[in-house]
Amino acid sequence: MKAVIIGLGTVGRALLREVQERGHELKSKYGLNLKVVGVADSKTAVYNEEGLNIAEILKMKERGILNDHPNRASLTELIKGGTDVLVELTPTNLKDGMPAVRYIREALSAGKHVITANKGPLAVEMPALMELAEYNGVHFLFSGAVGGGTPFIRFVSRCLLGERVIRIRGIINGTTNYILTRMEEGLSFEKALKEAQKLGYAEADPSADVDGWDSAAKLVILSNVAFQSGVTLRDVEVEGIRDIGLENVSDALRNGETYKLIAYSDGESHLVKPQRISLKSPLNVKGALNALQVEAEISGKQTLVGKGAGGRETAAAVIRDLVELKVRLAGDGRCL
Ligand SMILES: NC(=O)c1ccc[n+]([C@@H]2O[C@H](COP(=O)([O-])OP(=O)(O)OC[C@H]3O[C@@H](n4cnc5c(N)ncnc54)[C@H](OP(=O)(O)O)[C@@H]3O)[C@@H](O)[C@H]2O)c1
Repeated sequence: MKAVIIGLGTVGRALLREVQERGHELKSKYGLNLKVVGVADSKTAVYNEEGLNIAEILKMKERGILNDHPNRASLTELIKGGTDVLVELTPTNLKDGMPAVRYIREALSAGKHVITANKGPLAVEMPALMELAEYNGVHFLFSGAVGGGTPFIRFVSRCLLGERVIRIRGIINGTTNYILTRMEEGLSFEKALKEAQKLGYAEADPSADVDGWDSAAKLVILSNVAFQSGVTLRDVEVEGIRDIGLENVSDALRNGETYKLIAYSDGESHLVKPQRISLKSPLNVKGALNALQVEAEISGKQTLVGKGAGGRETAAAVIRDLVELKVRLAGDGRCL
């Protein structure tokens, strides 16, 4: 399978390293014979239909000299050339989803399968992009867009096949969970935020996390998968954690409860809001962990807990999608 990767940041480079190190295993175990024919960052695109030398690309990217590669190409050549799948890993933009929306649209329209870990284009245009993929008879997969390596999307879409999901509820932003956990331990919001930034959990501009928009974007994706609700970010009622003070946190603890930024959807209401939950709830996970509870009609409530981010973890989710794509294309009916 020929792949191009747009975005060579933390996840893109981790993906290249995994392909380099585990290529043989992916081939022998899953029959996935992956050839990376193109890569691009914000300035340079490189394409070779025979396959790129991954070690050389990683080295050149590390040294900041990708520009010197002999096989420079245009992004259009990458997207519309001989590739089977576009792996899209550019930064998240929750305003208009660009540039990812443009790359994904171009690839789907050109009959290429697309895999992304970027929640931006999905938050803004998920129903339209799904429709475009279907119209062009190609697959559009995005396992890494929610929960990093933790398979929350598959949990909702696959594990409960044949059952009706009634509601989903969870903590799908590690930064706010870290801040609230540290506030439980007595730190002010400001100090906990600074600590989260120092540890690399929070961005220099933390507003997407603390104001609830990152959770809302992920909720859009989960809700569309669980309920085919056809929603975008505009349909979510969002409230962040800035107004929670230490006195609120202490009061909750005295009553056997704790504050969490909860994302909720039942297919009709879509909310992100700080809520008090019991200390005994399975959703009471600590630090930067994420937890998603799915309530199904027959099997009831089930909770999946895991790390919500990480370059290597998210690269693992992209590989999961590549294997899934291989299985779907082989049409051998195996359900992974
Ligand atoms: N990191 C995680 O833990 C994680 C977890 C889940 C999902 N994700 C999602 O995965 C995606 C990638 O994350 P990341 O952490 O790898 O991001 P990142 O480190 O910021 O890397 C982004 C990459 O995209 C490139 N880029 C920027 N603008 C571009 C443009 N207009 N055209 C082509 N390439 C462009 C950048 O180029 P330069 O190298 O030239 O700057 C860089 O290589 C994001 O959407 C993120 O939300 C990340």
